Amino acid sequence: MHTATETPAMTGDEIVALTKQHTLYEWSAQAAVNPIPVAGAKGCWFWTPEGKRYLDFNSQLMCVNIGHGDERVIAAIQKQLETLAYANPFMATEPRALLGKKLTEICPGDIDTFFFTNGGAEANENAIKIARMYTGRHKIMVRYRSYHGATGGAISLTGDPRRWAAEPGLPGVIRVFDPYHGIQRGWDTVEQALANIEEVIQLEGPQTIAAFFLEPVTGTNGILVPPDGYLQGVRELCTKYGILMVADEVMSGFGRTGEWFAVNNWNVVPDLISMAKGLTSAYVPLGAVGMRRAIADHFKEKVFYGGLTYNSHPLACAAALATLKVYEDDDLIAKAKKTGKLMSELLKGLEAKHPIVGATRSIGLFGIVELVKSRETMEPLAPFNGTSAPMTQLGKFFREQGLYTFVRWNTFFSNPPLTITEDELKHGFDIFDRGLAEISRGL
Ligand SMILES: Cc1ncc(COP(=O)(O)O)c(C=O)c1O
Repeated sequence: MHTATETPAMTGDEIVALTKQHTLYEWSAQAAVNPIPVAGAKGCWFWTPEGKRYLDFNSQLMCVNIGHGDERVIAAIQKQLETLAYANPFMATEPRALLGKKLTEICPGDIDTFFFTNGGAEANENAIKIARMYTGRHKIMVRYRSYHGATGGAISLTGDPRRWAAEPGLPGVIRVFDPYHGIQRGWDTVEQALANIEEVIQLEGPQTIAAFFLEPVTGTNGILVPPDGYLQGVRELCTKYGILMVADEVMSGFGRTGEWFAVNNWNVVPDLISMAKGLTSAYVPLGAVGMRRAIADHFKEKVFYGGLTYNSHPLACAAALATLKVYEDDDLIAKAKKTGKLMSELLKGLEAKHPIVGATRSIGLFGIVELVKSRETMEPLAPFNGTSAPMTQLGKFFREQGLYTFVRWNTFFSNPPLTITEDELKHGFDIFDRGLAEISRGL
């Protein structure tokens, strides 16, 4: 059991009141937010200044994959801080050199060159630029059930309702349907899904399309694990029409699916890969876009038009190197696969026991539960882009019981750190179970 070691200067209520007074919370009307004050964290747990402990079943925002407070990463960051806190992006530093080499070892295929950013959205912004510069084409193809970040270009690529307020956004974005159409309509076959994509490519003109961005396993929009053959088919279509396949692995990368990257589950090599979150497990912000050798070669003679003051920040690169070593030393990728099997069984257990569970999906430690009013109609327990009394009640129950997870629309997530023990996992699922029983009683 870990508790706060020092008495914090402010109470939880004071922290909440002051953050709400002077800072903006994202994606929210400010009056509605009710943040948890966080004083410290270790392993799979975090706690408030008053010592109320929460089991972190979402790795915060699906990013603290190695768990909180790993001393090895903290020491590496401290050491780098003392050695060299910052050097501008035109310099060469040891952590930058070593991180590029290390990522080459773990990335699929011949992806061996990286541009470092501050996070996932900027990785995608630069992927857009690279795809356009490399192909000379301008359109970007994306899917509706997707999130690619909140900056100008990335929010235009985003298919979910977070995009609406940013429209009209970036010109040249074209959209295709996902193979999944919601809990009531279900899944297309692989053949239907690929035929629909190919039809859009033909109608738009393949020679105008630079790239197809997709989350290999869709994250916030539903942990949509594609049917076998889908990603391979997308790869073939991209190759056939000279379109770059861009895997947005910001959430699905770094062991979340039981592989280094989600594409590895289907042996697919994308042309570009964007990453962030698990790259440093969020100890320090860092993102990257990786590219295959042929694309990197293009920029040998051609200018790469892109830049950031904090590109290849030494502190972030050192944090990433230390984090990647933790994945390896503790065998966390294999552990996620193994614990993921248990999680999948626990999810199926909820499905068997609670009629309001319409579907569960998971791969590795990337999981979700979709709730319905009844299995006859499969009507979601909250509407698309909305909430409902039972979903609010469920979120409140989890919080009271000391379980933190993401509750969105008619779904809730199960994305714990890869370090989670079986007992901790079962503890979280016990709270899920009791929460589902409680809201079912009121229906
Ligand atoms: C798939 C995906 N892409 C991009 C992003 C944006 O990353 P960031 O918030 O670091 O800009 C996210 C964030 O949740 C994501 O899940």
